[in-house]
Amino acid sequence: MLVGGFSGIGKSALVNEIHKPIVEKRGYFIDGKFDQFQRDIPFSAWLNAFPELIKQILSEPEEKLQGIATELQEILGEEAQVIIDVIPELELLIGKQPPATELSSSAAENRFNLLFSKFISVFAQAEHPLVIFLDDLQWADLASLKLMKLVMEKIDINYLLLMGAYRDNEVNPGHPLILTIEEIKNLGGIVNQIILSPLSQSALNNLVADTINYSPEKSLALTEQIYRKTQGNPFFSTQFIKYLHKEGLIYDNYQQGKWLFNLPEIKILAESGDVVELMADQIQKLPQSTQELLKLAACISNQFDLETLSVVYDKSRSETASYLWNA
Ligand SMILES: Nc1ncnc2c1ncn2[C@@H]1O[C@H](COP(=O)(O)OP(=O)(O)OP(=O)(O)O)[C@@H](O)[C@H]1O
Ligand SMILES: [Mg+2]
Repeated sequence: MLVGGFSGIGKSALVNEIHKPIVEKRGYFIDGKFDQFQRDIPFSAWLNAFPELIKQILSEPEEKLQGIATELQEILGEEAQVIIDVIPELELLIGKQPPATELSSSAAENRFNLLFSKFISVFAQAEHPLVIFLDDLQWADLASLKLMKLVMEKIDINYLLLMGAYRDNEVNPGHPLILTIEEIKNLGGIVNQIILSPLSQSALNNLVADTINYSPEKSLALTEQIYRKTQGNPFFSTQFIKYLHKEGLIYDNYQQGKWLFNLPEIKILAESGDVVELMADQIQKLPQSTQELLKLAACISNQFDLETLSVVYDKSRSETASYLWNA
């Protein structure tokens, strides 16, 4: 199941909504993101996803845990170390393994792909279906796409739903992702696709009304301005609302016990520049030290932890945290 659409349109948010019903059905839901600046790291999103799954399994009742561990051991055999090399958490489940035999690079890649799809098949069972969500596929590395094709081809993996999100405006017909999807279709794979469009003005109005606790009739004037600025893109819309609040153009009035907004000023803002400019503007208003710290953080990845950041920043954790707090 592919979900396509413009940046900020709600692809990741939509797919994450299905998390709950899946867990209710005792399924596993795991996700990994491809990173714009880590396209040379093979299998990145695949490998990001699985430590979480191992953690989920380790919290299962002993009997189920043992069952899965035994099955993994059987199916991976003497070569289990190949997978532990890339997902060290697996060792917690199946224990130390003998070193794998050395192979030439293409043989090693084939072995890896084969073992990895076997590995997946252990988790994707009728009693506990597996959903893997690969986000930001427009940045997928070639090895990951190849593995995706292989997994889709394997008829003995039955209870697996592979979901992917991608920015459709950033892939052309010759993009490796599109070619891979074509190949999967040609091989008879089932590929469903949802293309998300922006929120309509009335949907956006529901969001605005809900946010400021107004009736939809009363919030419409504000919505019209937000819609003009954002064309219904939910990311831009929520950012714009936050911006208006920060700038004091949406403000709470204690006497009246409700939110008020300064429509004339908002109109002026809605006409000028785009939301990206406003967001950049807000970053530039942060203290210089906070901006420097954010630059370092951005170099780590789209997620970072305080420990790593404080090492890079070469300051104590509490000092690092205090600068970060502004942001
Ligand atoms: N239908 C919706 N109603 C309200 N808010 C939404 C809706 N869809 C998305 N959002 C919000 O909009 C923001 C952007 O959504 P999301 O991150 O899912 O976009 P995306 O399509 O994955 O973008 P990108 O291509 O940059 O990854 C999030 O804060 C999300 O909570
Ligand atoms: Mg996303």
